[in-house]
Amino acid sequence: MENLLFSIYPYIALTTFLVGSLIRFDREQYTWKADSSQLFEKEQLRKGSILFHIGVLALFFGHAGGLLTPHSWFLGLGISDMAHQYVAIIAGTIFGSICMMGGVILWKRRMNNQRVRANSHFMDIFILDWLLVTLAVGLLTIPLSFYHAINGDASAMVSLANWAQSVISLQANSTLLSEVGFLYKIHLFLGMSVFLLFPFTRLVHVWSVPLGYLIRPYQIVRSKYVRYR
Ligand code: HEM
Repeated sequence: MENLLFSIYPYIALTTFLVGSLIRFDREQYTWKADSSQLFEKEQLRKGSILFHIGVLALFFGHAGGLLTPHSWFLGLGISDMAHQYVAIIAGTIFGSICMMGGVILWKRRMNNQRVRANSHFMDIFILDWLLVTLAVGLLTIPLSFYHAINGDASAMVSLANWAQSVISLQANSTLLSEVGFLYKIHLFLGMSVFLLFPFTRLVHVWSVPLGYLIRPYQIVRSKYVRYR
């Protein structure tokens, strides 16, 4: 079971993520969008979406940097395992909580606002639920990591990073997780499944991050109302 979930499933998820996204982009261009619901409700969306996206983007880059940077690089930079562990705990708590606050606002809005609810597809609700459960389990691992940290034990974090690097180097090795707690494994399964679900949801908007926005020419916006002084 461990072999299936942590040596084989990562590639099922990653292949579905890449090939599924390509097929969706090729065949379903009109569904390739964030599917904004701003026209139906603005106030809660502004609060929820900003908090959620700040959190989720920080968590994404935090996970990528923390898990995929080779161990020797951290040591070379003078960052000990314990320092790495505490940075992960503190950053994870801050950005995980911000993401959770935003996510809960978005979830309540999507379930309770009749106009937003009526315009939601099954997958819009499903993926929001899935992300929130993944996030909640991730937050629940923090007390466990803290307990390891105060006992001077960084071995779970190092094993998780070694496993993530084994996946990326196409040599996934589930035995690297043999000493890692059950809660972390549930979080890994939920997180990998986000990649699996990705092409079938509005998450495809992440591929289209509008970087051009930062350097685009300015626009002139004129109000249709004339202001008399
Ligand atoms: C790359 C940068 C990103 C940009 C520019 C972006 C932009 C957007 C926009 C414009 C919306 C629509 C908001 C509306 O209803 O008007 C949206 C919704 C959403 N985004 Fe992102 N996003 C990004 C990254 C992500 C990431 C990394 C995730 C999670 C893995 C994510 C998950 C979601 C979800 C779940 C919604 C729907 C929220 C709801 O239920 O209303 N986004 N995003």
